[in-house]
Amino acid sequence: MEKELEFYNKIKNWDFTDIKMYEENFTDWDMYKILNEKAKDSDYILDLGTGGGEKVLKYFPKVEKIIGTDISDEMIKTAYKNLRNSKKSNIEFKVMDNLNIDFQNNLFDIVVARHTCIEPKQIYKILKYGGLLLVRGVDKLDCWELKKYMEEVRLIMM
Ligand SMILES: C[S@@+](CC[C@H](N)C(=O)[O-])C[C@H]1O[C@@H](n2cnc3c(N)ncnc32)[C@H](O)[C@@H]1O
Repeated sequence: MEKELEFYNKIKNWDFTDIKMYEENFTDWDMYKILNEKAKDSDYILDLGTGGGEKVLKYFPKVEKIIGTDISDEMIKTAYKNLRNSKKSNIEFKVMDNLNIDFQNNLFDIVVARHTCIEPKQIYKILKYGGLLLVRGVDKLDCWELKKYMEEVRLIMM
């Protein structure tokens, strides 16, 4: 974990626009399309492991409040820089460990976690009953835990 944090603090963003790359998808699921279809104006959305907020600023719908969190303070600094350049509102960023979530219970209508580690029990506490969890990049243990704890939550895994 120390090494991972060092790595993310060093790179400071998760923006690949300067890299020539080719992306291949094995399903036609589009996480952000689903997010935009399901979100309501009054929703509170949490993006766990947000990086430099690149995806929040580019793909997330306009709702009451979006909070992006990341364990790396350098990523969060970048996210605030990106937010200032975007001129978008109702968005906040905060340093937080996904394994120690410190928001009040049942605060969020939607939780998004893309390519970051998650602890389902922690998410369960802060997601409203009947809320929506969008996860991309789950590993084998996450799948097991998600099934165990998320019976009452609509779950879309990609
Ligand atoms: C692969 S990047 C993905 C960024 C973003 N979610 C995206 O899809 O572009 C992983 C991010 O998760 C963050 N991260 C890793 N472990 C974390 C943890 N325990 N708590 C919070 N963030 C974490 C990293 O700092 C990094 O910004």
